[in-house]
Amino acid sequence: MTWGDDLAAWWIGEVASDPAYDETVVPLALEVAAARPGERWLDLGCGEGRMMRALSAAGADPVGCDVSPRLAAAAGRAGPAVVGRLPDLDWLTDDAVDGALAVLVLEHLPDLAPLFAAAARVVRPCGTLAVVLNHPLLTSPGSAPVVDPDDGEVLWRWGRYLEEGSTAEPAGAGSVEFLHRPLGALLTLAAGMGWRLEAAVERGVGDAQAGRDPLLAMQRDIPRLLGVRWRNPA
Ligand SMILES: C[S@@+](CC[C@H](N)C(=O)[O-])C[C@H]1O[C@@H](n2cnc3c(N)ncnc32)[C@H](O)[C@@H]1O
Repeated sequence: MTWGDDLAAWWIGEVASDPAYDETVVPLALEVAAARPGERWLDLGCGEGRMMRALSAAGADPVGCDVSPRLAAAAGRAGPAVVGRLPDLDWLTDDAVDGALAVLVLEHLPDLAPLFAAAARVVRPCGTLAVVLNHPLLTSPGSAPVVDPDDGEVLWRWGRYLEEGSTAEPAGAGSVEFLHRPLGALLTLAAGMGWRLEAAVERGVGDAQAGRDPLLAMQRDIPRLLGVRWRNPA
């Protein structure tokens, strides 16, 4: 299945039912965005508006965009939300926003160069691009936890980490494609489009999640999320 209304119902249920999003994803996104009160923020692939609500609570003024009309309509309760397919941001003028945020979206876009270029145009000089994605260690085809038979320690198999690739993960009655890019490829691509790296944060399983799931508790030292903040040149 491709993103659009096909996956909208699954995603709304996923967000509602998984407390890990509010416990780990939202705090990491707010940390890397570091949005200031009064700033105008663009939420790229806003889904049903979870990050727009979090940005509003932080005092920022969000506008969302999403390829799914159903998700954009739901996000409309949190602020203006446009139906559009990334990387197209032609509906925004140059320097229109102070920052752009993409949370769990880059893994679903086949070509990131046009998105980095479009974001550089619509974010003002010295403005921010912030992303949170599944850590590339997790999206690598063939990667998985493995248990050491000697002592029960949970280790991580890297799979084909060094190559770009994709995996299909279960989503409702179907599946959704996750595109894998090694960390170095992602950072080099953004730098090539002029974005200056300001922070890269790798996060493992959160305390609350580990408390609920003993198998995840044994993976606390394994990175699961990556947050990055870039700055647009002056
Ligand atoms: C995993 S969800 C994350 C939603 C939201 N950012 C959040 O954190 O709650 C991925 C989102 O990206 C959107 N999306 C995927 N491909 C897109 C594209 N080419 N243009 C715009 N939105 C897209 C999907 O519709 C979906 O809402």
